[in-house]
Amino acid sequence: MQVVLDYLKQNQKRFVSELCDYLRFASVSAQPQHKPDLLACAKWLVAHCEQIGLEARLCETDDHPIVVARTKRAKKPHKRHYMVYGHYDVQPPEPLELWTTPPFEPRIDGRNLFARGSTDNKGQNFAHLKAVEAYLKTGTPLPCDLTFVIEGEEEVGSKSLSGFLKKHQEELACSAVVISDTGMPSSNHPALTYALRGIIAFEITLHGPARDLHSGIFGGAVDNPAMALAQLLAKVRDDRGVIQIPGFYEDVEGMSREERLENKRYPMTDTQLKKLLGVRELFGEHGFSATEQRSARPTFEINGLTSGYQGEGSKTIVPAWARAKITCRLVANQNPAHIRRIVCQWLKENCPATVRLEITAGHGAEAYLVSPKSAAAQAALRALKKAFNRKPILMREGGSIPIVNEFKQILGADSLLLGLGLPDDNAHSPNEKFNLDCFEKGQQLSAYLWQELTQPKV
Ligand code: BES
Ligand code: MN
Repeated sequence: MQVVLDYLKQNQKRFVSELCDYLRFASVSAQPQHKPDLLACAKWLVAHCEQIGLEARLCETDDHPIVVARTKRAKKPHKRHYMVYGHYDVQPPEPLELWTTPPFEPRIDGRNLFARGSTDNKGQNFAHLKAVEAYLKTGTPLPCDLTFVIEGEEEVGSKSLSGFLKKHQEELACSAVVISDTGMPSSNHPALTYALRGIIAFEITLHGPARDLHSGIFGGAVDNPAMALAQLLAKVRDDRGVIQIPGFYEDVEGMSREERLENKRYPMTDTQLKKLLGVRELFGEHGFSATEQRSARPTFEINGLTSGYQGEGSKTIVPAWARAKITCRLVANQNPAHIRRIVCQWLKENCPATVRLEITAGHGAEAYLVSPKSAAAQAALRALKKAFNRKPILMREGGSIPIVNEFKQILGADSLLLGLGLPDDNAHSPNEKFNLDCFEKGQQLSAYLWQELTQPKV
């Protein structure tokens, strides 16, 4: 094991420079013009995996390719098999003017590496590849077989991956899936995440007059769709953010006393959170801490709001339509289809007759909740402690990784969520970064993990 750790230590510089190469691909899955960049990125990844001693292949899909890389197997495989999941696609980098340096020209400043995709998810996932490289290049036997599955559609709903899992069910059957695509409180506070929120996405459009109208000639006699939408959405919550849609909270399972206590160990004060987010005051339901609100409570969020004239200067119109992009985050035990139904029903009932409501459904996924007491979770906690030299905290995360539900359903495998992202990493925002201490410790974590997971009691 020491030789693996030494190898990691000696090669940090090269690892960072390779990660920079990986980050130069503008693999933005949401934007069709970047399709060739996703393909080039996947090809680079295949070549890189081969170079470190894995058997790698590029698997075409209807959209972006999936990269599969495996440790070479004995003729009769006898070792435990684990999957490492990650994604090489990234969120759109816009608004570009807010980036200090361009999103696909990686820049190092102190211990931070700035680029789109650095924390979410190229850098986090790359830490595992580097750990495996250390085993393979030092001739240290890996105590388990590993398969890396790195997809290119995570940020747009992982549509191809679930079919792929079904098709390759036998090859991918494993004891657990290891994922570093979540967060940790700070670079010296390791964490095991045992819950993720689910999600439903949809768009609401209110149609008013047949075309934009002169607001002086007709305004007053015709409803304004933008105002009607504002009023409709305003009714969704009260002034503390409690969702007013009947039944919305019905199936929400509360947290145990033990969980709430553990939650208090999360090392961030409200003052620190306010500062981090640039808000004057925090917000939210009475009786829950900010940590609880952003991980263990469901939400209704407007992600985008459009109507009327958005250009320079003024334009006096009553717009023909108004639109909102919405997502609700869900927690364990809430059924996405049911929540979608009651939300749509409520919107229909509350929409005034002066406008026509159109709802387009988007993606949806259940929340994920797994016991942190399982033998695999305990092994992961030991590996975290060894790498970071500190007792890890157990946490729920507010974000979603919908595919983990399918890992469970199709492969029967639980996911070990070992996040390496920091709260100030700016995931999905301008100036995204990845902390190089998290990168290095992440590699050590991965190196220890395979040992801990294969201990006899696990
Ligand atoms: N890595 C994130 C998910 C995440 C981040 C979970 C931080 C927990 C903490 C992932 O890439 C992501 O952004 N997922 C989307 C899923 C959506 C598009 C279905 C999300 O959560 O918005
Ligand atoms: Mn993301």
